[in-house]
Amino acid sequence: MILPIVAYGHPTLRKHAEEIDRNYPDLQQFISDMFDTMYASHGVGLAAPQVNRNIRLFVIDASPYAEDFPQEALGKKVFINPRIVEEAGEEWAFNEGCLSIPEVREDVVRKPNVKIEYYDENFEFRSEVVTGILARVIQHEYDHLEGVLFVDRINPLRKVMIKRRLGDIAKGIIKTDYRMIFPLLKKKVM
Ligand code: NI
Repeated sequence: MILPIVAYGHPTLRKHAEEIDRNYPDLQQFISDMFDTMYASHGVGLAAPQVNRNIRLFVIDASPYAEDFPQEALGKKVFINPRIVEEAGEEWAFNEGCLSIPEVREDVVRKPNVKIEYYDENFEFRSEVVTGILARVIQHEYDHLEGVLFVDRINPLRKVMIKRRLGDIAKGIIKTDYRMIFPLLKKKVM
């Protein structure tokens, strides 16, 4: 089932998401819905707060980047209760976007090497070191669980320049080909 995605300005995007355990209700269905929603909106990652669930879970499939980053294993992955334990290396800039902030893309600087511990979809514990674009997608989604958005990490001057567009997104003054919940949408009076 495809779920609606909450837009910039929605309070759930600003919360610190909560850990879950293996008995979380309908977990497998929720994971399946997360993938359906991500693919339907052509994203490479989706975090639970973006579908208005305040839990520490995100999914990724960065395979659209396979041509540009052929050395990395970019397929489907589920991260539950993840913890980034180390970030290292020389910071690099990459042009990021976000399904909750349609049509905005900005350069964000992050470190390239990430050590992450998490539980997979079967609640098996995993510890991995990832790099490059895979690390980048994980860092972006992980931020969502901390209530952080990529526009919080851009150059302050750029942030001023896109302020109005962010306000328009919150009000629903934007067209997307996927269903969204706009926090400041004014209901039309009949
Ligand atoms: Ni995002």
